[in-house]
Amino acid sequence: MDDGAVGRLMERMTLAEKIGQLNLLAAGEGLVTGERQQTSLARRLDGGQVGAIFGTKSLATARAMQERALAGSRLAIPLFFAEDVIHGHRTIFPLNIGLACSWDMALIEATAAHAAAEAAAEGLHQVFAPMIDISRDPRWGRVAEGPGEDPHLASRIAVAATRGFQGDGLGSPGRVAACLKHFVAYGAPESGRDYDNVTLAWEDVIQIYLPPFRAGIAAGAASVMAAFNALNKVPMHANHRLVEGWLRGEAGFDGLVVSDYTGVAELVEHGLGPAPVSVARALHGGIDMDMVGEDYLRELPALAECGLDAPDAGFSLSADHITGLIDRACRRVLTFKQRLGLLDDPFRGLEGAPVAPDRATGRALARKAAAASAVLLKNDDLLPLARKTKVALIGPFAKDRANMLGTWAVSGRAEDVVPLDQAVAALTGRKPITAWGANIVEELWLEQRLNVHGVTVTRDPRSDAEQRAEALDAAAKADVIIAAVGEAKEHAGESSSVLSPELPALQRELIRALAETGKPLALVIFAGRPLAMDQIARHADAVIYAGHGGVAGPEGVADLIFGTEMPSGRLAVTLPVRPGETPLSYAAETTGRPNPGRFAKFRAGWLDLPDDAQHFPFGFGLGYATVRGSAPVLSAPTARAGDTVTLSQVLTNTSTRFTAVETVQLYASDPVARITRPGRWLIDFQQVTLAPGESREVVFAISADQFTYPVAPSLDAVDWVRDPGLIRLHVGPNSRDTETVELTWLD
Ligand code: NOJ
Repeated sequence: MDDGAVGRLMERMTLAEKIGQLNLLAAGEGLVTGERQQTSLARRLDGGQVGAIFGTKSLATARAMQERALAGSRLAIPLFFAEDVIHGHRTIFPLNIGLACSWDMALIEATAAHAAAEAAAEGLHQVFAPMIDISRDPRWGRVAEGPGEDPHLASRIAVAATRGFQGDGLGSPGRVAACLKHFVAYGAPESGRDYDNVTLAWEDVIQIYLPPFRAGIAAGAASVMAAFNALNKVPMHANHRLVEGWLRGEAGFDGLVVSDYTGVAELVEHGLGPAPVSVARALHGGIDMDMVGEDYLRELPALAECGLDAPDAGFSLSADHITGLIDRACRRVLTFKQRLGLLDDPFRGLEGAPVAPDRATGRALARKAAAASAVLLKNDDLLPLARKTKVALIGPFAKDRANMLGTWAVSGRAEDVVPLDQAVAALTGRKPITAWGANIVEELWLEQRLNVHGVTVTRDPRSDAEQRAEALDAAAKADVIIAAVGEAKEHAGESSSVLSPELPALQRELIRALAETGKPLALVIFAGRPLAMDQIARHADAVIYAGHGGVAGPEGVADLIFGTEMPSGRLAVTLPVRPGETPLSYAAETTGRPNPGRFAKFRAGWLDLPDDAQHFPFGFGLGYATVRGSAPVLSAPTARAGDTVTLSQVLTNTSTRFTAVETVQLYASDPVARITRPGRWLIDFQQVTLAPGESREVVFAISADQFTYPVAPSLDAVDWVRDPGLIRLHVGPNSRDTETVELTWLD
């Protein structure tokens, strides 16, 4: 079909057919992520009342549904198929927060490309990914799915993932449409409680939460999903100013906007009015497709006929206006289908033998990604271990498979995971001594909640004391203890916010008991979120923050422990020192009473936090090699607006034995500005590999536009400003341990 195909189709469609295109339904084979479920899918397909389906689990199902949809649609308009492919499809890669810790954009692009190929081989055309919600609150469970706390890092991830999913363009074989989500500021809910509303200064919305969306759109992302929350009092499913205004108007997005699961229906609970008002607000606000709730299907026919006059809700639209909005949304759905090549070939990707990518290649990539995603937080000369070391592997995750997949592994399989005990045995040729050590959680009711998507949390019926005694016995027989502790798969993820982001008590007690043996102790933390680390890390000689690493997570960890891979991960999110230190960010604004680095009365700080607490800030991570950076050098101490200044630093790997993968990070601070600014913020980074003894120069290009910032009393009054004067540039291996040079802009 040529470009006019959408227009010609629109001319022939009835109102009911157009409304049908706006209905996005679940296949019934996938994950249920809300309370409400839809009516019979078959009935809807036969009546031409479905535009797209998500959650099919095989090519055969998708093909059958497409056949049925074509038969049920007078004009034979095809469906498209979508799925939550969050961190891999059949091959599950590390959680997104882990992948972000790799700071390796080529790797992130490769994982997205592999996931796209696996998804396309199952007949999927769109993935509900990448999730690019910045979050600075470890209580929020969905921090697991996201890119971490920083807008610069998140923007680069948005670009890499979009490229990986879409390749050179929609419709390329083995690629799928990306869907940036959740628009916007979903990662900043009050109290860290999922679905809760968000109140933010517009400067923060513009500088922190919108940039990853702008970057993803510039990279060509074909669709966007709205967020459940209200932002500054307006629910995102009715946020005309942000969706039609910013997203389409300012960022230039011309693709498809889908609702989240029953997000349109939820406007009623948000208090915007009964279903007709909520539907009119959502459609007017720019939500093109309605996921699962079917409120568009129910309400739009009458709205298109009679219009809406709801003075109590302060909202009225004429029938003509509503008809025009239905046309607008339908046109966007059809254009999306056209871009996917479906209007030319409704069975695109659904016919013939599926060409799934090679599973072994996927596993190798997953293993590499798992090693690159884990962050070495502490190492007092313990790691890497020699292969002949007698290891006691203790903890409830020592033999675990299912939890290793992490949340949102909807098409992953636990049997694909090689557990840590087997990974260690395969690598060293020696079976580690193992012990369960402690139950994952103490409370039965919590265990039941964690098992909501299938049982991943089991318990040892013996008493805690018996479990502990067995663990100490195992420890006594070994040279080194490796404690495999952490969170269950569903501890993090959607609707899994916690009051206290820390290791469950039984596991903390286990660590203390193991530390008391005096044996060298390495901790491996398998978790979905940033957990409070101070009181845990101080008991250990080494700590690897492994996250939930996917099908090859434990193998990637084993590679690090025994030195076949070099640790290179850097935290994409600051770890809280204690669970109550939340929300938090390295980029916190300066205050009038800044913290001097220890407790001081009448200064910002915590009364109940000891001065020697161990902090693990954004960007932090160790390697086995030590890298020394020379004093940074600026090409000029002053510059004018059009100039490019360079900052260079020579890095030297001082190790004689280990290769280093160093991520050099460049931060800026603006000591004098019109408004209070972040204490520092990331403006660039580079990753370099250095052989033992090797030196290499890294060079950053710096230009004035990197220091522009918004002054925004409202979204309609944004003033982008840049002032002449001093900027401090901080370069180093993490957000804290940096060296500073000063640059003065003359104009
Ligand atoms: C709800 C989640 O918020 C969203 O991320 C997901 O894509 C949909 N459910 C569909 O499963």
